[in-house]
Amino acid sequence: MSVIIAIDGPAAAGKGTLARRVAAELGFDYLDTGLIYRAVGMKVDRAGFDPADPARAGEAARDLQPEDLQAGDLRGDDAAQAASKVAVIPEVRAALLDFQRRFAACPPGGKGAVLDGRDIGTVVCPVAPIKLYVTASAETRAQRRLLELQGKGVATSFDRVLAEMRERDERDSSRAVAPLKPADDAHILDTSQMDADAAFDAAIAFIRAKL
Ligand code: DC
Repeated sequence: MSVIIAIDGPAAAGKGTLARRVAAELGFDYLDTGLIYRAVGMKVDRAGFDPADPARAGEAARDLQPEDLQAGDLRGDDAAQAASKVAVIPEVRAALLDFQRRFAACPPGGKGAVLDGRDIGTVVCPVAPIKLYVTASAETRAQRRLLELQGKGVATSFDRVLAEMRERDERDSSRAVAPLKPADDAHILDTSQMDADAAFDAAIAFIRAKL
């Protein structure tokens, strides 16, 4: 049976970079589950509807096609906000659950799967043997996000990025279905004082001890 590694945490905590590196290091397959919610949110938005509309968003989630994950605009902040809106809708979460579980149980390479998201250790794969909850202070995450946006030439400010981050944290943590929270058996990794290399070293040491 292949191994499942669940990596959860709030926006911009560095879990995507970490999950990708862990998967590459171990030869496991990687699934960015946030991208699925982004694809659903943008599908609704591009069709001219409100991502918070349960009927439209539920339909988009049920009809999601692999090519929807290739859309060019999924990494931006509009997609992040749309994703966080569709993610509170129970029919959306139910439709996406099967897809994620199938990937975890039967990753394409057959060796193991690394999934990152908000509810992997609590809902999608509660029996995953290895769970990490990657976090950092809101200020640290906003600062990292600001540098990333400035690197892309986006004009914004620290206060604005921090406010959007807090808004998304609040929506992700307070929703009724599968809210963002660490699983009871998750290992908490606070990266506030770590760079990407230090976070990776700490994560891989924990994972190797468990494998
Ligand atoms: O990780 P991300 O920023 O790409 O996620 C975008 C949004 O999708 C996030 O604000 C909440 C939602 N999401 C979720 O509810 N459950 C997941 N497993 C992954 C993402």
